[in-house]
Amino acid sequence: MLKKIGLIGGGYIGGVLAQEIAQRGLAREIGMTDPAPMPNPSDPPERQEVVKKQSVAIGKCLDIAEGLPTIGRDIKLVGSKDYSALAGAELVINTAGVPRKARPDGTFPSREELLAINLKVTLEVAKGIQQYCPNAMIISIANPLDAIVYTLDKRLAPPKNRIMGMAGVLDSGRYRYFVAEAANVSVDNVNAIVLGGHGDDMVPVRSSCQIAGIPVTKFLDEETLAKIEARTRKAGGEVVGLLGFGSAFVSPAWAALEMAEAVIFDKRKILPVCAKLEGEYGVRGLFVGVPAILGKNGVEKVIELDLTPEEKAALEKSVAGVKKTCDEAEAMLQTL
Ligand code: APR
Repeated sequence: MLKKIGLIGGGYIGGVLAQEIAQRGLAREIGMTDPAPMPNPSDPPERQEVVKKQSVAIGKCLDIAEGLPTIGRDIKLVGSKDYSALAGAELVINTAGVPRKARPDGTFPSREELLAINLKVTLEVAKGIQQYCPNAMIISIANPLDAIVYTLDKRLAPPKNRIMGMAGVLDSGRYRYFVAEAANVSVDNVNAIVLGGHGDDMVPVRSSCQIAGIPVTKFLDEETLAKIEARTRKAGGEVVGLLGFGSAFVSPAWAALEMAEAVIFDKRKILPVCAKLEGEYGVRGLFVGVPAILGKNGVEKVIELDLTPEEKAALEKSVAGVKKTCDEAEAMLQTL
């Protein structure tokens, strides 16, 4: 159990995180920061006064706190509209920013199209971490995932093992779920890794996919696997299209918590995480989804897989996409 976990953003994912951290007893204190709702300067002053007194973070914390007797947990919850709720956090999970949302015609933006707006938010996040919990371990979920982690790293420069993005656990979870469903076996039996950036070019690694230790190709034919892998790459969008109001929020929260638990309980669990690469997989200075051992020091070790030539080429393409978004982030940061 940690002394304190800080949650940056108290929206859909932040809410599930707070609820689950309380339920699982992962920390004695949860601090949640979220500026919402923000007064609209064009509203009448009375309306602005009302909104100033409202707080999603304080409200969600109070709601969960009032349920603690029911689940038998003695935990402190602190919410705030500024970043003070993060004070003393040993681990922070960042979900600040806008999610993808279906447009009225049913189309929706790519994660990369969130960059301009979420980059500004990320600068505030970096300042908040710097001020209130500069030594906290960071797990970031906000999109575009790889470029937001890259930006936090540029601003905060923590040791490379103490900052990581959550994407691979979610993407692999989707891959594993689709395989389990098609093979009609327990999700527990399916092992798989998705590598690369958290975009539509991510790489579900078929050569790493096994059912109870047996290659997946023994269970599913080429056509079925190709369909599953294509669906995995676009699985986030599938949920965005269905929900209409935003993007997936339960599975990303659970995925981040699997990472957090590996760190909190020093499990040395091998999970796909968005980690800073310094030569591994031929990549330097970028955050990319790779398998790594997660333990009390965060990213303890990146593991290099033997990929097939096709998987290698797919990873190179995905990394090129991550680099492009990071270059765009760098250019935008010059103007902010
Ligand atoms: N600091 C802290 N929180 C902020 C800030 C900020 N500067 N700016 C916005 N937020 C808050 C919003 O007020 C909102 O409550 O971040 C929260 C985001 O919550 P949701 O809009 O519900 O989005 P959610 O589904 O939780 O996704 C959050 O994770 O998966 C990604 O693409 C997704 O980038 C998105 C992020």
